[in-house]
Amino acid sequence: MTENAIEMKNITKKFGDFTAVDNLSLDIKENEIFGFLGPNGAGKSTTIRMLCTLSNPTSGSAKVAGYDLIKDPAKVRENIGLVAEKMIMYDKLTAAENLRFFGKLYAIPNQKLEDRIDELLELVNMQEWKHTQISKFSTGMKQRINVIRALLSEPKIVFMDEPTLGLDPQTTFSIRDITRDINKSGVTVILTTHAMIEAEALSDKIAIIDHGKIAALDTPQNLKNLIADSDTSVFGAKITNLTPKLIGKINSLDVVDAVAQQDDHNLKISANGTDALNQIIDVIRHEDGNIASITNSNESTLEDVFLAVTGKTIRDQATEKAAPTHHGHEKAPKARIR
Ligand SMILES: Nc1ncnc2c1ncn2[C@@H]1O[C@H](COP(=O)(O)OP(=O)(O)OP(=O)(O)O)[C@@H](O)[C@H]1O
Ligand SMILES: [Mg+2]
Repeated sequence: MTENAIEMKNITKKFGDFTAVDNLSLDIKENEIFGFLGPNGAGKSTTIRMLCTLSNPTSGSAKVAGYDLIKDPAKVRENIGLVAEKMIMYDKLTAAENLRFFGKLYAIPNQKLEDRIDELLELVNMQEWKHTQISKFSTGMKQRINVIRALLSEPKIVFMDEPTLGLDPQTTFSIRDITRDINKSGVTVILTTHAMIEAEALSDKIAIIDHGKIAALDTPQNLKNLIADSDTSVFGAKITNLTPKLIGKINSLDVVDAVAQQDDHNLKISANGTDALNQIIDVIRHEDGNIASITNSNESTLEDVFLAVTGKTIRDQATEKAAPTHHGHEKAPKARIR
């Protein structure tokens, strides 16, 4: 029987009047890669910080690796590793010296620590850089050291907060590979990301989180099936003379849940009901929009699901960097697909 690595019950975090994490209840199974996918300010890092005992919940309770977060924080810490949003590393020290420094904080015995450092450097293909100063490393190399730093104490659970943010595509792929290897070695991985591709490529399960709440929770495939099984459709529309006014008109249709602008000409439109396409075409033509194409793909993407459940697009980065800025046109999601 698989145990739960994490059990969260009604976890809430308030900063003053503002609720960053809103009554979150969630179980994460051992040996899973679990992804929190959500836009800026969704509450991902705040959730991770609470589960790592770095910040106390305002209310609610949680078990991490079987230990109560509030009653037994020291036991929780013994069982977890954290790859935080910001890298913490001493530039003047070598890779090995950095790892040694952090290993000593965990009171790992010397010989065991040396073996562990070699083993981890090998995991990320960095043996030959062992005695090089961190200041000479590229961002990607630093991030590899940053990731293995979280594994020194052989934790059962590793939290990775945006592990590939700002990395080039090649390094991004290598960090994802490393993440899979870590998971295969029996470690539960909990990661946060803005990148749909990353969430989908890595996660056994994904929680789409928005405004501190879970908007959807399932396997990547089941999330995509949500759209196929519902009367929600996500259309791609190419309009050669796209204007903000036209986007506003489409968005104000009752059948439309959300509109996201992909680039100068292309929109994604999440809509409901059998008459949706007719109404969308009517309003575009009424506004003298010039339709180059409209598609309704049967194979929905995680991005479509995100648009349908949150009513907005997500800020993309890294491998998706070449794409133009996405502008979400937010309106209260009707969330008919849940
Ligand atoms: N210490 C704090 N004091 C006040 N507000 C905070 C604090 N930490 C976070 N917040 C607010 O809580 C919300 C959630 O922040 P959090 O960092 O958890 O979001 P996130 O999902 O990690 O976003 P990002 O994708 O930008 O990293 C934000 O609106 C943020 O401004
Ligand atoms: Mg964050």
